[in-house]
Amino acid sequence: MFASVTGAVPAATVPPVNPVLEELIRTGLSPTPDGGTVPLQSNVPADEAEFLADVVRGLEPARTLEVGLAMGCSALVLCDAIAGTPGARHVAIDPRQNARPLWAGIGLHNLDRAGFTPFVEFHEQPSHRALARFEA
Ligand SMILES: C[S@@+](CC[C@H](N)C(=O)[O-])C[C@H]1O[C@@H](n2cnc3c(N)ncnc32)[C@H](O)[C@@H]1O
Repeated sequence: MFASVTGAVPAATVPPVNPVLEELIRTGLSPTPDGGTVPLQSNVPADEAEFLADVVRGLEPARTLEVGLAMGCSALVLCDAIAGTPGARHVAIDPRQNARPLWAGIGLHNLDRAGFTPFVEFHEQPSHRALARFEA
């Protein structure tokens, strides 16, 4: 099981996961693109993140789609789970990713820190608009 997202725990109790995600969960803090640090918030709970990783690894999809990027925790789970799949692509939709004070680009920044930018496709739109374009 992942460590609690709400409290810092000794690193030794955190299982091996993506190092960026592990750091976010262990510290309860996230770096910002402009060099600051803010409390981690609105992220998927640790046990659901673990469940999500198990489901995606079991299904072995080449593509995943997420509505709501926020600080990027669930996206890190998804990207980590598909990273070894040829043609992997993670589509993330969030109309407020670059809005301030939140989310101020933090989700995309964390994906970039993890090295996932090359296979992330980001749409800065509300989901009803982005999803409608995919159908067209
Ligand atoms: C609970 S947070 C997502 C947390 C994230 N999945 C994680 O685990 O780290 C909800 C996100 O949905 C986004 N959101 C709100 N309305 C939306 C919409 N209409 N379309 C897409 N995203 C939306 C918000 O900006 C916010 O980033």
